Amino acid sequence: MSEFKSNDGFSISRRSFLKTFGTSAAVAATAQMEAVAKELEKANAEKVLGPEPLPITLQINGKPMKVQVEPRTTLLDALRNHLPLTGSKEVCDRATCGACTVLLDDKPVYSCSMLAIEAQRRAITTIEGLAANGKLSKVQEAFIDKDALMCGYCTPGFVMSVTALLKANPHPTADEVRHACSGNLCRCGAYPGILQAALKAAGVSTTAKTEVISYARLA
Ligand code: FES
Ligand code: FES
Repeated sequence: MSEFKSNDGFSISRRSFLKTFGTSAAVAATAQMEAVAKELEKANAEKVLGPEPLPITLQINGKPMKVQVEPRTTLLDALRNHLPLTGSKEVCDRATCGACTVLLDDKPVYSCSMLAIEAQRRAITTIEGLAANGKLSKVQEAFIDKDALMCGYCTPGFVMSVTALLKANPHPTADEVRHACSGNLCRCGAYPGILQAALKAAGVSTTAKTEVISYARLA
């Protein structure tokens, strides 16, 4: 049997070395696997929510609002059916029409296509949050001045998309307005007035020609 001998006379056989080392390695590996399993269990427990309703807080129009919703609840559903905020409209409920548009950290999103639980800790702005001290925002005023609606069902969504655009780009061109509103549909065909309203809110002068062009390109 091969034997290792140190300078101070200490000796250990190859077999006992392998036995001792092997046992220690196995113990260490098992401990490591147990630690990883515990971490995974903890992470999984944190990720699984519901299906029961759970309390969440949404920051809406600058105020914290508490609501109890199932994890599958969309932001639009939470606003309209769990909170008294029915300004955002449900039309297609599948990310097509833009009637449900709200701002999330000043960016327009389809509230029918995100979960309310995902919107926690984000600044949500709905159409109800635009008027300050009872005074309509300049975008809302412009929609009235330019008669930019017919049935009005798409209007909150358009107002929110134009509001987001003007926050990012205060003086857009007509094409930039068209691009910003390309995710919103108006079944009544009020596009010319919508374009005029957006440009008026931006302080961009328009002509009758702008309206004619908008008919040709948006209708
Ligand atoms: S209702 Fe959300 S996009 Fe149509
Ligand atoms: S005004 Fe009726 S859908 Fe736009």
